[in-house]
Amino acid sequence: MAQTENAVLQPPRHIAIIMDGNGRWAKQRGLPRTAGHAAGAETFRTIANYCRTLGVEYLTVYAFSTENWKRSQEEVSGIMKLLGNYLTEALRDMEKNHVRFRFFGDLSRLSPQLQKLCAEAQDKSAGFGDVQVNFCLNYGGRDEIVRAARAFAQDVAAGKYQPQDLSESLLSGYLYSAGVPDPELIIRPSGELRTSNFLLWQSAYSEYVFMDVLWPDFGPRELDRAIEEYHRRNRRFGGV
Ligand code: FPP
Repeated sequence: MAQTENAVLQPPRHIAIIMDGNGRWAKQRGLPRTAGHAAGAETFRTIANYCRTLGVEYLTVYAFSTENWKRSQEEVSGIMKLLGNYLTEALRDMEKNHVRFRFFGDLSRLSPQLQKLCAEAQDKSAGFGDVQVNFCLNYGGRDEIVRAARAFAQDVAAGKYQPQDLSESLLSGYLYSAGVPDPELIIRPSGELRTSNFLLWQSAYSEYVFMDVLWPDFGPRELDRAIEEYHRRNRRFGGV
């Protein structure tokens, strides 16, 4: 794949993306929403490969939120099918691609087959490290924090900790993202200017780049532009 002209800039270690705009992309073409998600899945493949080429260490994508169950049965099963197809393919090509997979979210609501694919992808790729892809699946940022608080409370009840032991770093260890550095850059295509319950804790100091392009039309050039914009920002972490 050709790298675009801006790729010489050092990319952030961790990029997170809200893959938004699939439905509108399909509507503009008179296609069913599932066709938009299929195009979005292709874009994800391109961007994951590009991130690997650039040397990005972590790519986190919002694939299905805790709120997305409200969509039609047809749309939900279409997205699940695309995920299943992708993971089957990723398991087949694992030795070639060296991508490591993690899953953030409550997977227990997914079909047993998809849960099995997620577990296999996570286990079998654990030793790889070209890029780590974190799929947020049945994920919500508030839900993640509630679960972490609940798990800590259980450990307090079990006598493992005292309430005053809780610190930011201890709480981080109870999140789905335990051990993963926070994203420096979060990209939301499609023109929406919201965080939509994505990585609420982890995004405390992230740079957001909102772009007008719909996700199926997003490509390496757009990723380069977002990285460029990230480099223009002056990250101070609350200092001067
Ligand atoms: C948001 O766009 C997108 C989703 C809710 C689903 C994202 C899923 C994929 C890209 C496919 C998953 C598969 C792989 C392999 C990554 P939207 O439907 O809300 O778009 P709209 O706002 O234009 O309606």
